[in-house]
Amino acid sequence: MPISKEYIQDLHDRADIEEVISSYVSLKRTGRNLKGLCPFHSEKTASFTVFPDTKSFYCFGCQASGDVISFVMRMDNLDYVDAVKSLASRFGMAMPDEGYDDSFSKLRMRILSANREAARFFNSQLYVPENKKALEYFAKRGLTKQTITHFGLGYAPDDWRALLNHLRSLGYTEQELVLANLAVRSNKNGKTNVYDSFRNRIMFPILDLRGNVVAFGGRVMDDSKPKYINTADTPVYKKGSGIFALNFAKNSAEKKLILVEGYMDVITLHQAGITNAVACLGTAFTQEQASLLSRYAEELYVCYDNDAAGKNATKKALQALDKTGLKVKVVRMEDGKDADEIVRTSGKLKFLEFINKANNETEYRLSEELGKHNVMTDDGKAKYLIAAAEILAECNPIERDIYAQRLANEFNVSKESIMIQASSAARRLGRRRAQEKEKEITKISVKNFEDKNNPERKANLRAANAEETLIASLMRNPDFYREIKGEFTPDDFVTAFNRRVITCLIELIEGNYSTDLSMFAQDFSPGELDSIGRIYIKSGNLANTVKECRDCIGVLKNSSGVGQQDARNMTDEEFLNAVNKLRKREEK
Ligand code: CTP
Ligand code: MN
Repeated sequence: MPISKEYIQDLHDRADIEEVISSYVSLKRTGRNLKGLCPFHSEKTASFTVFPDTKSFYCFGCQASGDVISFVMRMDNLDYVDAVKSLASRFGMAMPDEGYDDSFSKLRMRILSANREAARFFNSQLYVPENKKALEYFAKRGLTKQTITHFGLGYAPDDWRALLNHLRSLGYTEQELVLANLAVRSNKNGKTNVYDSFRNRIMFPILDLRGNVVAFGGRVMDDSKPKYINTADTPVYKKGSGIFALNFAKNSAEKKLILVEGYMDVITLHQAGITNAVACLGTAFTQEQASLLSRYAEELYVCYDNDAAGKNATKKALQALDKTGLKVKVVRMEDGKDADEIVRTSGKLKFLEFINKANNETEYRLSEELGKHNVMTDDGKAKYLIAAAEILAECNPIERDIYAQRLANEFNVSKESIMIQASSAARRLGRRRAQEKEKEITKISVKNFEDKNNPERKANLRAANAEETLIASLMRNPDFYREIKGEFTPDDFVTAFNRRVITCLIELIEGNYSTDLSMFAQDFSPGELDSIGRIYIKSGNLANTVKECRDCIGVLKNSSGVGQQDARNMTDEEFLNAVNKLRKREEK
């Protein structure tokens, strides 16, 4: 049974959306509404808008939308019931204590607690005499007992069922352990076998920002492969979303973070007192991680290994970070050494020297480019300077001036020639960007006709638009419903998704509930709420009259959907053309 609508409405009245969102996003007031940088996609100009009047949010950039509950669901990666619980406790409401379906929420709690027990178990195994090689390994890598405890490091015994047996004795089921990815289930010759995921590995627990153990990384102690095994996606963990040690580093005084490659780099740096080091786990650096970092830092030092893989990773990270507005610096360390080795062999001060010498992005790219050319020859020099001009083309005019001067001095050419080259590269870049933008706009405008939650929309555009206008108008003006009640039913709706929305909406209106977005959150997923939010946003541009509603009903009664099916097979361009033609015809 779902949580009662009364309860949700009450929660909604008490959980101030402005207050809740402000604790995640810095918002500025513009008129009645508030604006900020969208937490769901990377952007430099604020298009994320909070509407206190309707207790909803909407991002004009990525179209994310919803209410206070779905906001918390997304930000804290919670399911519906957990988000309600978290808001209820924050705003001092008792939970409705019976009936609601919280099985998923319970499963998550079980997995988190199994993970915590697993971390305890792995840690305790370090001090079992027969496992002393694990402790020796940590000692060899210079970690103190204190550090091992601080990071909760451990050892997974060389046994197929050590952890399984331990956690089973504490009451966890095999099913729970498999879902937590602490154990693996295999089927061989019709026989099912369950065994520990991590065996004979040193273990690094991964904590989220609230201190929950959400995953593990396990490393071999020799050169065997795979070097690391990491927890796969589970109900409490999604790869590419976490950042190792951010739970410790997030409060860094200067809002500076150092991004290194691996677990060991982070741990060694923290042990040396450099407690603002973090790592993004695995090699790929996601947009989500970039925007998470930008929430806790103003400046980021990218400090990857100085080898081919590290350089490649740096390049990708720079691209993802470019959109966050974070001030980025690139640290170049000695060849073949990672942060861990530098601190251990040359000391903390040496590492800090590298940090202090970090380059900004332009300097970094110029010096990377320099390495590719033999500038002792005239030909090599010319090639380098042409490539350098491409890099300067992306800078602002002041930076361009400074670096052109530097290059001119260094290579004994005139600054003017470099500036001319850079300007023409900038014009070419501008044209290319304009073309890309054009393509993007085509894509976006096609996207406006498509809706992943409503696959029938594109092929039934006219009807779907009428449905959506009717929904938007009734959401904003629920009292209209009394007047038009007898004139339509949800069955008149052509698209199934909108039919579900209107059914839910009518239920709310007839029950005298509020028709805010949040009231839909129980019957629709957060992803589906985006579509309802998009529909609702429309109401700002509507006449909001009963007549408008009647016109829409008229369209629905007359729409057969015939002749519109072809749209499904059109390319984006063909489709846009067809729509434009239709528009012109209607304007005549
Ligand atoms: N990594 C991974 N899976 C692998 C290899 C690496 O998940 N098969 C991730 C780990 O988070 C690792 C990071 O990438 O910490 C960097 O890899 P690498 O430089 O190989 O490991 P180090 O952490 O430097 O380990 P060590 O110093 O012990 O060699
Ligand atoms: Mn290393």
